[in-house]
Order: sequence, then structure tokens, then C-alpha cells
Amino acid sequence: MKASFVKSSKQTQDCPKPTLPEYAFIGRSNVGKSSLINMLVAQKGLAKTSQTPGKTQLINHFLIDETWYLVDLPGYGYAKVSKSARAKWDKMIRAYLLDRANLNGVFVLIDIRHKPQAIDLDFMYWLGINQVPFVMVFTKLDKISKSQIKPSLQHYEQTMLEKWEEMPKYFLTSAEKHTGKEALITFIDTLNKHYHA
Ligand code: GTP
Ligand code: MG
Repeated sequence: MKASFVKSSKQTQDCPKPTLPEYAFIGRSNVGKSSLINMLVAQKGLAKTSQTPGKTQLINHFLIDETWYLVDLPGYGYAKVSKSARAKWDKMIRAYLLDRANLNGVFVLIDIRHKPQAIDLDFMYWLGINQVPFVMVFTKLDKISKSQIKPSLQHYEQTMLEKWEEMPKYFLTSAEKHTGKEALITFIDTLNKHYHA
């Protein structure tokens, strides 16, 4: 897989021309968006990662195999962010998600270690009411024991079913252990095949 950084954009208008199908990774700060992108394309430093939340601040485009874009978005929910910075994030990201013509899928990343958080549930709900198609990606599977995975997922599903008719499609991943790579790539390949500009 060939992957290269294209550009960082402050707003949708500055993004690359919307000529190729595009997939955006989004979720709380520190959930592992940038790490997962690097794992998928097998290039360690392509998307910048950090132990400090808030590393990714702009809309970052990566061109994959000259045929599609992966997008690394800034995370939400970082406690130390000011109200005005949060409002700016909201405006930038929500406008991007609603206006980006070639956006062919959104991946909402969720740390498998945590109980369902209002901020993630609210964000997915917002995607739903705005008819932005998304799938869920549970991250950091290597950080919990195997026996905890099923109960965690069941609990998440139960919570989702309070608002949703069915559990959205989801993937189980670990950037550390390269878990879920095949499944995600196969899924994106399928979406690419069905993409019509
Ligand atoms: P922001 O850009 O700040 O929103 O964060 P992000 O969601 O891009 O997270 P990032 O990929 O920078 O990862 C945050 C931290 O979690 C880093 O220290 C990563 O090494 C770690 N991390 C990410 N994915 C995994 C994983 O699957 N397993 C483990 N053990 N650590 C991970
Ligand atoms: Mg990041």
C-alpha cells in the first residue's frame, strides 16, 4: 500500500479537490486515530501521534494508492481545551462532515477500555440525525484482557440500543498488535468499489 501526506487544512474549502473517495477517522483525543492510520498503511510516522491529547489539530489528508484519501481529524473531548477552542473544533469538524462531497465513510474510534461516554454517544447521534454514514472502531484491544472484550462490547451494544434500532457495524482493533487491519482494509476496498463521484 502506497501512502503519502498531502496537506493539512483549516477548513473544508482548503481540502484537496474532492475527486477521490475519502474516509475520516474521528473520536476522542488520544483514542488512537493517528496510530490506527499508521498501522493501516504500515508507516510508523505518517500521521503524527502523541501521548499528549490534542496532537492532531487540522484536517490531515493522506493519499492512498493514488486512489483514495484517509483523513486524520483532531479529537474531541479533551478536558483542557478552552470553550472557544472547542467551539472552533465543532464548527470545523461538523462543517467538514456535512459538506465534504467525496466523504464516503466515517470511522468513529472508541477506546474499548472505557464505559460508553456521553460525548461519543452524542457525536454518533449527531451523525445519525444528519445522515452521515459511519462505523465504529474499538481501539486499544491489547490494553484489556481477552475475557473483558465480550462483556465490554455487550455493554456498549446495550447502551447503543437505547437510541438506535441496531448496533452499527463495528471493528475491533489494536494499533499495537496490528489487530483488525485486514477487516478494515477489506471494508474500505468494498466502499471504494461502490463509490460513484
Ligand atoms: P489526538 O490526535 O491527540 O486526538 O490523538 P489520537 O487519537 O490521534 O491518538 P494517537 O494515535 O496519537 O495515540 C495516543 C496514544 O495512545 C499514543 O501514546 C499511542 O501510542 C497510544 N495508542 C494508540 N493506539 C494504541 C493501541 O492500539 N494500543 C496501545 N497500547 N496504545 C495505543
Ligand atoms: Mg492524532
